[in-house]
Amino acid sequence: MGTFLFQLFSREHPAFVHVPLGLVVCLPIMLVATYRSRYPQTWRRMAFRVALLALAASVLTMASGLYWARMLNLVPPGAILPQVASEGQALQRTLRSHEISAAVGFVIGIISLLILRKSYHEPEKWTWTTASFAAVLLWAGVWGFGSKLGGIMVFGDAETNKAAAAAINAKKNDAEAELPIRALDYASLEPAQTAPFKSHAHGDRLARTWVTASGIDDFTAGKPLPVGSYAVLSTALDAKGTPGPLYMREVKADGSQAFAFYWPRVPEASRAETGGEDYVYWRSPHKSLATCLACHTTTGPANRP
Ligand code: HEC
Repeated sequence: MGTFLFQLFSREHPAFVHVPLGLVVCLPIMLVATYRSRYPQTWRRMAFRVALLALAASVLTMASGLYWARMLNLVPPGAILPQVASEGQALQRTLRSHEISAAVGFVIGIISLLILRKSYHEPEKWTWTTASFAAVLLWAGVWGFGSKLGGIMVFGDAETNKAAAAAINAKKNDAEAELPIRALDYASLEPAQTAPFKSHAHGDRLARTWVTASGIDDFTAGKPLPVGSYAVLSTALDAKGTPGPLYMREVKADGSQAFAFYWPRVPEASRAETGGEDYVYWRSPHKSLATCLACHTTTGPANRP
């Protein structure tokens, strides 16, 4: 029950931050009132209490933010800051700055509290009041910056939203992002042999080659595949016809080669080839396909091993 309530509370972190933030924003106004009022001590005492309340509320807010970030797997369990593996991880980078500004603001808050106390105990020295005014302004500024970053993480800004939309669009236009659709439809292509052959180059499996109509003549003549055409090698693991991996090689519009390797059901005994995976779909530029280039150096026939 306790954890459940805390989870609920943590998810509302973007709402709760407004409590300490709202309190800190009051402080400069209260200190201006200190100068203008006939009862400056009352304002100083009130400012001290509001600052104390803001600090206390911020402890809860920071705890909820950290807990939330861990729930979302943005911060590893037991850690405080996110791991930023590369500068491309915009969310992690923003979160790191967000957390640092929250912590820096907290320290400035403690200093502000001490100065406020001093200004109350030495009311004749107005420099303390001025110093406290400057401190709380800085405090509000640092937390304001931090919450701006928080807002970007929750709602996005023009830049992150544009990047996210572009990524979704790219995926939508990339019909083969999840499955090698053209390779799977190899039976619609021109068969290059009438019977399977044992392909020593591809794991000694039984194989057949299928080539697009646009490339079959060049392929059988031993010439390079033309731009836009592709070849698929369908394989079987045994004479019973147990399906093996599908290999694909295509020549893209710019004349470069792209490879694909699709093995939806890797038998236990073959998993050493796939790094232990029981399902693989690799597409260029996946690093595991670098081995293809060892033999397929050109768009023409491959070098025999
Ligand atoms: C050891 C050399 C070698 C490696 C590595 C290799 N191939 Fe091949 N590949 C060949 C040869 C040789 C042929 C011709 C058929 C045969 O003998 O198996 C061929 C044929 C093919 C074909 C059908 C015909 C053609 O020319 O396109 C495809 C598709 C293909 N390979 C894809 C791949 C992919 C994808 C990889 C990487 C996962 C790969 N190959 C790795 C040597 C290799």
